[in-house]
Amino acid sequence: MPSIKAPRGTHDILPEESIKWQYVENIAKQVASKYGCKEIRFPTFEDTGLFQRGVGSTTDIVQKEMYTFNDRGDRSITLRPEGTASVVRVCSEHALFTNTLPLKLFYDITAFRYEKPQAGRFREFNQFGVEFFGPALPSADTELIMLAKDLLSRLGISPKLYINSIGCENCRKKYHNELRKFFSSNIDKMCETCKTRLERNPMRILDCKNPDCIKITSKAPVISDYLCEDCREHYDSLKMYLKENDIDFEEDPRLVRGLDYYTRTVFEFKDQQTGLAVLAGGRYDYLVKEIDDKYDVPGLGFAMGIERIISIMENSNSFPHFNTSPKLFIASMGENGSKEAVRLSNSLRSKGIYVEFDTMGRSFKAQMKYADKSNSEYLIVIGDNEVQTGIVNLKNMQSGEQQTIELSKIESLLI
Ligand code: HAM
Repeated sequence: MPSIKAPRGTHDILPEESIKWQYVENIAKQVASKYGCKEIRFPTFEDTGLFQRGVGSTTDIVQKEMYTFNDRGDRSITLRPEGTASVVRVCSEHALFTNTLPLKLFYDITAFRYEKPQAGRFREFNQFGVEFFGPALPSADTELIMLAKDLLSRLGISPKLYINSIGCENCRKKYHNELRKFFSSNIDKMCETCKTRLERNPMRILDCKNPDCIKITSKAPVISDYLCEDCREHYDSLKMYLKENDIDFEEDPRLVRGLDYYTRTVFEFKDQQTGLAVLAGGRYDYLVKEIDDKYDVPGLGFAMGIERIISIMENSNSFPHFNTSPKLFIASMGENGSKEAVRLSNSLRSKGIYVEFDTMGRSFKAQMKYADKSNSEYLIVIGDNEVQTGIVNLKNMQSGEQQTIELSKIESLLI
């Protein structure tokens, strides 16, 4: 084993695993495309200020989890902890918000958070994300949740949907005051981070993972009791749409999410066995303006954690069987046989057939063993005799059946 190992919280994706990744990512892209989303790609790192402003300076992500460093030009750089802030930056920089709205995008990225590694929690992880820009109506929140649900169903899993509304600036003023009143008598018993949050952003306290803080927050007032009329209507309308379309959900008045940009709708799809969120998101009507005040465009989106999805799919046997075996193995004997094996495999591969031949210089017996081990569907042997006559024995490796066939006709049999 090499003395240098993968950094803590990272993981390697080996060839047997990567086929599962391709499967999940392909389905995600197909489903998102069906809803009109186009792919967007952006840098792995950004100026630190983007995340401080976008994700929020009182969040755990910004306060404790970002990979931030000064580059050789002394600029503060951060490896992206998520995709939404970057997508907003790209759209404002390239004036995509001036296009006809809605603008619908998807991305497939790695993200980085300095978290305590544990089951389903990594320091480098992968997200498939979707963002909509433009629509303010609750029908768009419904469409986004429908997309998420559609995607999870296509993957063969059905985690439970939790929703909440965390209101707008107006309703939050009153709510923040109530929270401050509630927490002020208990603040001595809370963690240092929460103490700093009391004044700046008391709602963040509700997201604290410290057991002492959780005990206190469990009795805190909930935002749903403080929604303004517009936010209430928006939320009621979303629930009506979900019910009408048979999308099961449970309201969780304590769901506030770990990022500061959300307004109104927030949601999470949680795996019931592990309690982990596999896909989560919400509406963020002020984020675009916060990042570039030239634009005032509502937004909403979600991101799905691919590691978590794959682990659940493995546990519930939701992956199909992937056939990665060769269609044909060409065993060869002698120089002429070997030449013909190279020529024939080149010709068959150009027609899209997966063929293997011996490049290890194995003995005839060892080639047979290898063909068997590689699970090849068919086998032929080419030696001087076959080259001269142009006729080979094609063996079906499963049934053991053999047939004599002209070399030039193999292709039509394999396609
Ligand atoms: P998030 O809840 O921080 O939201 O992350 C979304 C998903 O990424 C989580 O539900 C989880 O599946 C996965 N995830 C997060 N952290 C880790 C980790 N350390 N290890 C493994 N998986 C993880 C966002 O990132 C928002 N940008 C989502 C969004 C998009 N909201 C609006 N648009």
